[in-house]
Amino acid sequence: MVEEELKKGNQFEGKEEYIKDVFTEIAEYYDEMNEIMSMGMVQGWHKFMMKKAGDIHGKRCLDVGTGTGEIAFHVARTAGAGSEVIGVDITPRMLELAAIKEAELDLPVKIDWRVGDALALDIEDNSVNLVTSGYMLRNVTDILQAVSEMHRVLAPGGKVIVAELSKPKNPIVRFGYNIYMKRVKRMGRKYDKGKSIDGRQSAYEWLTTSIEGFPYGEDMVKVFRKAGFDDARFYVKSFGAVNIYVGTK
Ligand SMILES: C[S@@+](CC[C@H](N)C(=O)[O-])C[C@H]1O[C@@H](n2cnc3c(N)ncnc32)[C@H](O)[C@@H]1O
Repeated sequence: MVEEELKKGNQFEGKEEYIKDVFTEIAEYYDEMNEIMSMGMVQGWHKFMMKKAGDIHGKRCLDVGTGTGEIAFHVARTAGAGSEVIGVDITPRMLELAAIKEAELDLPVKIDWRVGDALALDIEDNSVNLVTSGYMLRNVTDILQAVSEMHRVLAPGGKVIVAELSKPKNPIVRFGYNIYMKRVKRMGRKYDKGKSIDGRQSAYEWLTTSIEGFPYGEDMVKVFRKAGFDDARFYVKSFGAVNIYVGTK
């Protein structure tokens, strides 16, 4: 069953290089476009993630696929002084921008930005108290491997909190959502100029179509359970545009 789910999603030859090219291409305007695409709701989703994290004060935290660092900043503020916050991403340019933004913030802890792959984290087993990740799973070549790595690095009792796009189930909401996604694609074109990346679709074409066939809701919960998060569950946000998955090791 889970195997079938994992065959879904947008997997193709050369995906890893393509993904790095996509995020290098859009890094400069990623934050602005994120605000527009989420209609300003993204900060609310991240606050909800922090609420689910419980008491992480002074703990070791990891944000995987950290991008320009927005979730890592929330984690740093919540975990506070004496904590350790690591942000890992496969695209160096996204991390450079995260570090530039961090320099302008007054965070209680300095974030450790690391170039790395979610499928093979360079982090010891059982060493992290909280793993967060936002909107990365659609971009990896092996969803189960990415979630299994999150499980491996977590200490017993540690939590995983992952936000990903999903599709609204209610047909009326879904109708509005489909229209909105077409609009987002058009808006994205203003930024990426519809330019093909390495012979493939343009960056915002990918970001909007990558949801097609991608497992979400109960199907994704099965992946988290298979990775070892026996108590995995999900929360629906913004009428089903986003799901937040939570599990404990
Ligand atoms: C949609 S962005 C999300 C960024 C950030 N989490 C946020 O909330 O804005 C997805 C990020 O995942 C990163 N990514 C994709 N595949 C990855 C992998 N295998 N390992 C680590 N990071 C990856 C991309 O480089 C990109 O920065």
